[in-house]
Amino acid sequence: MPPHNWMNDPNGPIFWKGKYHLFYQLNPNAAIWGDMHWGHAVSADMVHWHHEPVALAPTPGDPDSEGCFSGSAIVFNGRPTFIYTGVQNATPELMTLHDGNGKLRETQMLATAEDDALLHWKKRAQPIIPSPPAGMTVTGFRDPCPWHEDDGWYLGVGSGEREKGGCVLLYRSHDLLHWEYLHKLTEGKPNGLQAQNPCDSGEMWECPDFFPIDGHHCLFYSTENKVIWTTGEYDARAHLYTPKRRGVLDHGAYYAPKSFLAPDGRRILWGWIRETRPEAEFSAAGWAGAMSLPRVLGVGSEGQLTMTPAVEVETLRQAPTHPALQTGSPWRQSLDHLRWELSLTIPEGTPTISIRLRTGDQHLWELLLDCAQRTIQSGDTHFEVSDLTSPGSALRIFLDGSVVETIVGNTAALTSRVYQLHPGETELEILASGNGSVRATLWPLQPISKDRLTS
Ligand code: FRU
Repeated sequence: MPPHNWMNDPNGPIFWKGKYHLFYQLNPNAAIWGDMHWGHAVSADMVHWHHEPVALAPTPGDPDSEGCFSGSAIVFNGRPTFIYTGVQNATPELMTLHDGNGKLRETQMLATAEDDALLHWKKRAQPIIPSPPAGMTVTGFRDPCPWHEDDGWYLGVGSGEREKGGCVLLYRSHDLLHWEYLHKLTEGKPNGLQAQNPCDSGEMWECPDFFPIDGHHCLFYSTENKVIWTTGEYDARAHLYTPKRRGVLDHGAYYAPKSFLAPDGRRILWGWIRETRPEAEFSAAGWAGAMSLPRVLGVGSEGQLTMTPAVEVETLRQAPTHPALQTGSPWRQSLDHLRWELSLTIPEGTPTISIRLRTGDQHLWELLLDCAQRTIQSGDTHFEVSDLTSPGSALRIFLDGSVVETIVGNTAALTSRVYQLHPGETELEILASGNGSVRATLWPLQPISKDRLTS
């Protein structure tokens, strides 16, 4: 959670001098979106965190005067460097952000770390990319994602065009200051949808993240309130990416994720867990948004994305219990606190399982697994999974306060928000049908601090 007020996208995650740094979109002055700064948290283990002062703040009069939007961190000439989007009020000819609210111009900006604790950042006053490609009327122009190749630095920028779809614009540079526009790295297709905000119609792709992994390339982008993963082929000569497989990265309240490389080579993903309650409620609560658990990414033999919670998270486990589940009769346990991990291994032939959080007769959250159909339902959300019963497809559910993160057999995820849970009153209920023996393990988790905040 942010120290207070509003958090959205993870920004510029980087491992530097023995520490994990996570920056994120922060409104330090209210628990609603706006006035974007980059908050900063640091950790030795990705589990326990320490809040640092704000890393980037808007500079009056500069191209980021109205906000420091999302971006990435890389190391250039031995120094951590941010490339991010600055927004500024502009005349209609210069505006690039067409969502029906305001007249913002987006430009790509650069900042350099001045110390190894990454507390002080020197911003360049002028943009490194001042405008979208000539002749293109974009729906948006933001969230730069850089990487290095043999012949220089490359940068993808989230964008799109009305009636054409979202895209990633590709640039190249040798010094990070001068950028040449090449072409679209890849683009979506017209889908017939229209909305005032192009993010709602798929005509704007936010927060692209592009990287090689397990012999494939991956591109993630966020649009229509969802994160799309794709895996495919990158033609490193033509600098074109062709997605071959795609899916929804998380079927719940999860958006704008960003990955980085851990020192041991794992590619780890952070995602923003949105609020699902009304703005008036989170604004009154004084905080909004949280970061997901770190997920280790991979790509399976058939090109499917895999996600596994980082093993570091397991250090929070306390002595487990093994609920004795009897098919046909519900197993229930009252929750005296709201920090749990549940793992379920489902034998072949199990028809259905339901997992619920309930207070009295009220079902606050439920997951209904249809193992034969390979479908999962939770409230209005319904999705298919590749498998539920093969070895290695265990279901893991993490509960922390109002957040429930479910990972299904490493290939599907659902992040839910449940606000009415009450320790001492709320029960966990598991009900399986059929004759097989479902194995369940329930771990209470240690708190990461006394108040769910970082230290
Ligand atoms: C995604 C996003 C980004 C933008 C940032 C602004 O949630 O809209 O496209 O850079 O949030 O806070």
